[in-house]
Order: sequence, then structure tokens, then C-alpha cells
Amino acid sequence: MAPPKILVIAGSLRTGSHNARLAALAAKELALAEADVTRISLADYPLPLFDADLAVDAGPPRHAVALKQMLLAHQGVFIASPEYSASVTPLLKNAIDWVSRVRERGEPAYAAFTGRVFAIGSASPAAAGGLRSLMALRQILELGCGALVIPDEINVGHADQAFDDMDNLKDESLAAALRALVRRLANMARETAHWIA
Ligand SMILES: Cc1cc2nc3c(=O)[nH]c(=O)nc-3n(C[C@H](O)[C@H](O)[C@H](O)COP(=O)(O)O)c2cc1C
Repeated sequence: MAPPKILVIAGSLRTGSHNARLAALAAKELALAEADVTRISLADYPLPLFDADLAVDAGPPRHAVALKQMLLAHQGVFIASPEYSASVTPLLKNAIDWVSRVRERGEPAYAAFTGRVFAIGSASPAAAGGLRSLMALRQILELGCGALVIPDEINVGHADQAFDDMDNLKDESLAAALRALVRRLANMARETAHWIA
């Protein structure tokens, strides 16, 4: 059976981003779970702040179309989502909003979200991690975009001290939880491949 194709995205462009680190670790664990992994940076998909007039007048920007195509090419998606003001980053929300508006003629709404399975994680220097970012992202993906989001999630608190020199999680139970989550994502994405398209 072909390996499941999984896309990995971090919702931060910051140099030294904890969520980019979490995304890199998730990508490594997914590869060990024999998934076919693509890790992208949203820096490669620069988008204007969403404006419905822009979308109507000029159509979606090419990077929004490209990002949607990237989602469509994968059966599973892992998102590492920083917490800003008890929610997701504007970078991530803007990308999701743009992708949600890209629609080919005759295509059902939210096609980039409904046909695949998502797993989410967050890392924050705060003791509580990015729990509220995860809640907000789950709401956006599930209620806003109709996506299937795995109930388990990974939440890394004290993220500034959570990774070792090899960029692995120091806390073995958290590391095991991440491994379990990405394996579940890979397994569900493998199944999803049968009902996409
Ligand atoms: C505008 C702003 C708002 C933030 N709000 C929160 C917050 O509500 N809760 C939290 O845990 N951390 C908050 N933080 C801290 C971020 O979680 C922290 O900067 C984190 O490292 C960002 O993720 P990154 O390392 O992947 O860039 C905030 C940071 C910024 C810049």
C-alpha cells in the first residue's frame, strides 16, 4: 500500500520558532511512521491580509491557490499552531481564510479541508502551553471548514526548555504522545486515501 502523504505546517515564521521545531519533530516522527512527508513554510506562500473585495476583484492570489493545491495533494495535515492572544496567529488564520475562498467551478466548498484528516499541536513558553490556540484552531478547522480533526492533540508547555540539543522533546511522555498522534494521523490518512476523490 502506498505511504500516506502528510503535509506539515507551522503557524510561525519567527527565527527560532518553537512551533517550527515542533513541526520539524512531527515531520521526523511521521517519516519514521513511514509516511510520505512534506514540510512547508508559510513564508513561501506570502498572502495579503484577506479582504473580500480583493478576492472578488482580482480573484485569489496565486499563493492561496498554490497552498490549496498543496493541501489537496495530501491526505493528512499536521499543524503546529502558536498561541497569540489566546488564539491562533494571524499568519495561520489568514492562510486558512484565503484557502477556504479558493474554489474551482463546480467544486464543493472547503474541498481542501473536508477530504483529509488533520492533527494539531502547539508549543508555547507558557506553563499551559498553547491550549487556547488548539481550541481556536479546532473550532476554525472543524466548525469553520468542516475538517476532521483527530481528538488527541499535542501541547508543549515551557517550550523554551522543552527541547533538547537534538530538537527532541525532553519529556518522554510528551514525546510518546507525539509519536502516538502522528501514527494515528498516518493511519487515518492511509484510510482517507480510499475515500478522497
Ligand atoms: C502578539 C502575541 C500574543 C501572544 N499571546 C500569547 C498567549 O495568549 N498565550 C501564550 O501562551 N503565549 C502568547 N504569546 C507568546 C507566544 O506563545 C510565544 O511568543 C511563542 O514562542 C510563539 O510561537 P513561536 O515560538 O512558534 O513563534 C504571544 C506572543 C505574541 C507575539
